[in-house]
Amino acid sequence: MPDVDTTPEVDLDAIDSTEAAGDAAKRLREALRYHNYRYYVLDDPVVSDAEYDRLFRQLQTLEEDYPEIRTPDSPTHQVGSVVRDELGTVTHPAPMLSLKAVYEAADVYNFDETCREELGRDTVTYTAEPKFDGLAVELIYEDGRLVQAATRGDGETGEEITANVKTIKGVPLRLRDDERPVPDRLVVRGEAYMRKDEFNAFNRRREEDGKKVFANPRNAAAGSLRQLDSNITARRPLRIFFYEIAPVDGRDFATHAEVLNALPEWGLRVCEDHIRRCDDIDEALAHYDDVVAVRDDLPYEIDGLVIKVNDFSGHETLGVRDRDPRWAVAYKFPPRRATTTIEDLFVQVGRTGRITPVAVLAPVEVGGVEVTRASLHNQNEIDRKDIRIGDTALIERAGDVIPQVVKVMEDERDGSETLYHIPDTCPVCGAEVVLSDDKKQAFCTGGMTCPAQFRERLKHYASRTATDIEGLGDKRAEQLIDAGLIEDISDLYTIEKADLLALERYADKSAQNLLDEIAASLEQDLDRFIYALGIPLVGSATARLLAQHFASLDALMAADETALTEIDDIGPEVAHSIVAFFEDDDNRRVIDDIRAAGLTLTNPYAADEAPLEGLTFVFTGSLDDWTRGEVQRFVEQHGANATSSVSGNTDYVVAGPGAGSKRDEAEARAIPVLDEDAFHAVLRERGVEV
Ligand code: IVH
Repeated sequence: MPDVDTTPEVDLDAIDSTEAAGDAAKRLREALRYHNYRYYVLDDPVVSDAEYDRLFRQLQTLEEDYPEIRTPDSPTHQVGSVVRDELGTVTHPAPMLSLKAVYEAADVYNFDETCREELGRDTVTYTAEPKFDGLAVELIYEDGRLVQAATRGDGETGEEITANVKTIKGVPLRLRDDERPVPDRLVVRGEAYMRKDEFNAFNRRREEDGKKVFANPRNAAAGSLRQLDSNITARRPLRIFFYEIAPVDGRDFATHAEVLNALPEWGLRVCEDHIRRCDDIDEALAHYDDVVAVRDDLPYEIDGLVIKVNDFSGHETLGVRDRDPRWAVAYKFPPRRATTTIEDLFVQVGRTGRITPVAVLAPVEVGGVEVTRASLHNQNEIDRKDIRIGDTALIERAGDVIPQVVKVMEDERDGSETLYHIPDTCPVCGAEVVLSDDKKQAFCTGGMTCPAQFRERLKHYASRTATDIEGLGDKRAEQLIDAGLIEDISDLYTIEKADLLALERYADKSAQNLLDEIAASLEQDLDRFIYALGIPLVGSATARLLAQHFASLDALMAADETALTEIDDIGPEVAHSIVAFFEDDDNRRVIDDIRAAGLTLTNPYAADEAPLEGLTFVFTGSLDDWTRGEVQRFVEQHGANATSSVSGNTDYVVAGPGAGSKRDEAEARAIPVLDEDAFHAVLRERGVEV
């Protein structure tokens, strides 16, 4: 067992001094670090999520009440921080190399032969480990603390992504030192990735919000890590497998296998299940076969096996050629590709009305699976790859992801191939299809009356962040549609108890509960109702923005594209989508019917008075009495704007401890910088109670 108290009993009410708070925080941090290690590194938690949350909240409360005990490496800091203008660059302490890729066993034997000859040995021992399909990252720890993280970049210099990497829950901000002493400086490297299941769930959420989905987990991981706002990274399901210590002074190991043993002792996770130490190259090749066999069942994407000479003296002798070490090779898996004919193209209508073109293929086997469809993502891709009906195409299947068209064989055309364009009207309901200027997004504007969209829209309408009809989960929503009780959202409000009692799984009480909840959903906040409508490209943040700018639903429905684009953060595509939605007769009718049922909207952003009207605030650093979200919502509700960057329009920058470049920017522009007390004084001056 560890030398830490894994469930410290802290009585917050009994803490009355900084010293006592500091002491309790230390015990909580130790416990939380240990639980992070059990959960993320060993995959073997010893406490429930609820217990973990309890400890985490206690620490948060202490750090809020006693700001002087905060430490930069506290587990509570693994959340986002301020937005930056651009990612800086850093020079790697040693170049980050690439790997020579081979596709045949014969090439692996050649690699082994070279190693044996140059090292003058009969056999060479190797480690064989998965080649993860993510994004290479380098982390530097000094005195056990994470001080820098960077992408690979061009191998010499990479982008500085420290704030983003710090938000990844499995990355220790401080190394464990109870099993192995921590060196003064440790430069470790690994692969950041998303698990397939977490990627799929993440993409589903994006789709629900009408946002662009990522093509594969690698793109999603790379996009998430290169964010300027680490608050965004913090919400992405990222993980890291560590796979090496950079060859810099202080790497105190003789072999790569020793490194792989040491990393988890410091809390740095390695892929233990599929790494093998091999006595010769045949063992490495046997491991390759084993890994190929389980590849599709692994929770993460891999695209080959990396075979590395085990001893570091061998690395020195073999050296580097171009950018590739001569002591390692990537034995890639066979590409899951095949050629076939594109027999037809059609479009699918997704839950937010997103229109996706799909290719119908002459059935073909790709990596053991019969494939008959390929996703084409959007019109832009069709045009760019010049994909035509009748073309012979190269298809690739990667993991769980829907097969893709890599390219078409233009040489094989006979002139009978035909061009394809996404239709102007929805093939299911006939409503107008809007296509973005870059042709990367297309939506059906049929809204709630398009049957293809309706099922998912009803679930969305009832979901927790929308109108929150708790009893209307996925199953029950589908049951109501299948029973013919609901054909559009407004029908929800005409359901009678007898209708429900005629269905399976309803008794008097459950039927009444659902009816009560449906009735209660008519008393609604304007922003939630706008979100609930499921307007393409309007997620909950945009819905809030709209409620801040339009006093009522009528005002929003009357707005034209010019009025909408005047709002910061609303671009022409979103504006067009909103206008098209409200121009649709069916959508208007559904809204009228919900109104007739008794809809009462209140706008939480339209304060009766707007005492802060005309002021623009920027908040930076941490405040004692408010979280960032709370303070922004508060000033907005009183009529002010809260923006994330300092500009000529900014009236005040409110800076708490930890404020960074925004304070400097304000000073450079001679914009008043307020501490929390001065901010409260400004509020009181304007008659706002705090
Ligand atoms: S070792 C020579 N080990 O492959 C050192 N790399 O083509 C190269 N990669 O940028 C790093 N899994 O992102 C190593 N188990 C693994 C790896 C791995 C994936 C990636 C890494 C690197 C690229 C090189």
